[in-house]
Amino acid sequence: MLQGKNVVLGVTGGIAAYKACEIISGLKKIGANIDVIMTRSATEFITPYTFQSLTGNPAIVNMFQSPKYWDMEHISLAQKSDILLVAPATANIIGKVAAGIADDMLSTTIMASNRPVVFAPAMNTKMYENPAVQQNIQTLIKRGYHIIPPKGGILACGDEGQGKLQEVSVILEELQKIYRQELQGERKDLAGIRFLVTAGPTREIIDPVRFLSNHSTGKMGYEIAEAIVARGGEVKLISGPSSLSAPKGADFLSVETAEEMFEAVKDAYPKADVLIKSAAVSDYRPKIREAQKVKKESREGEIQLTLVRNPDILLEMGKIKAPGKIHVGFAAETEKIIEHSKEKIQRKNLDFIVANDVTEEGAGFAHSTNIVYFIDQNGEYSKTEKVEKSAIAHEILDRVLEKKFPADK
Ligand code: PMT
Repeated sequence: MLQGKNVVLGVTGGIAAYKACEIISGLKKIGANIDVIMTRSATEFITPYTFQSLTGNPAIVNMFQSPKYWDMEHISLAQKSDILLVAPATANIIGKVAAGIADDMLSTTIMASNRPVVFAPAMNTKMYENPAVQQNIQTLIKRGYHIIPPKGGILACGDEGQGKLQEVSVILEELQKIYRQELQGERKDLAGIRFLVTAGPTREIIDPVRFLSNHSTGKMGYEIAEAIVARGGEVKLISGPSSLSAPKGADFLSVETAEEMFEAVKDAYPKADVLIKSAAVSDYRPKIREAQKVKKESREGEIQLTLVRNPDILLEMGKIKAPGKIHVGFAAETEKIIEHSKEKIQRKNLDFIVANDVTEEGAGFAHSTNIVYFIDQNGEYSKTEKVEKSAIAHEILDRVLEKKFPADK
């Protein structure tokens, strides 16, 4: 998403300033161009030359320094940038922006920008909890600035609490999400389309303390639901157990077992134009659900667990698929990915399938990224790079739109 885009990174004076180097290296991997603006206090923690070496661009500190490295005026970085990130953001820069003060290169650039500005605060816990800082953060949020909250832990000063700069991987993921949402917010191309999405694992109960499940976190499906909301679509998200928060704006239903998911999908299906089944549904469940905990003391040696087949939800919905509806399946494979996926498209009556090789690094379960094959009914396929699941989500939705409103060839 940020490939080839201009990111302005504001670095302010805190002990986490060195983490800006890691942020730059992450942004470079994505393919972004980076310009660094430092506050005077940041230079007490790290030098402009470090950033110049990492980005290949001079790091700007002084608003009035001679423009020998760049040929534009001092607000031009604000105009050139696609997104601004301030990380670490001190209480001082947050306070200044909230109060409308522009007295150095960074605060001036923020003030002159009409692009998304994202703050990743890092400071002592007591400072972070100070009502003045909290109020300033609220002011920024109300004005449309974005905040990536700090995490908790033991701080450099020895205090324990919230105030540590968020993990760099989380900052990069959030930054891309915010950028995408800003872009997508401009196009509500899914308005009027009703989606039914499933996500997460299912749990098949053995007894009151044990269950069978899989590694799905729900991330893939939740990203799809978020992307639908961002693009103006309507979405019902039916999720197996997940620690993720229900996406804002989605009609959310939590279920536990495959059978419960099947009932919920059948209920919601008539109102949906598009079904996307990213859930990792258990194919089997224990034949008997024990009412009490199975005690090892009461059984000698090995025990047998008899499993019976669960309904294949996607297959069943494929049998009653109404004309005009679009069904998108997922396939989690470990071998013969194309062959197995092509078979699933036909058998489950799908418009296309999103297949991931769950043994590939950065793909499948529990990663923030995925690598997928989009495979069509006619067997044509393409493979993505390793990208954030949010980017895969948008690509799926683009493909749904192509199916729904095919361009004249
Ligand atoms: O949740 P994450 O941690 O982000 O991980 C994402 C993911 C790996 C779970 C996701 O990318 C994925 O691959 N989901 C599908 C997993 C799966 O069950 O694949 P499958 O090949 O076993 O099933 C094929 C399709 O049939 C899927 O759309 C599945 O939802 C559906 N199915 C399967 C079995 C069943 N009993 N009922 C179904 O509806």
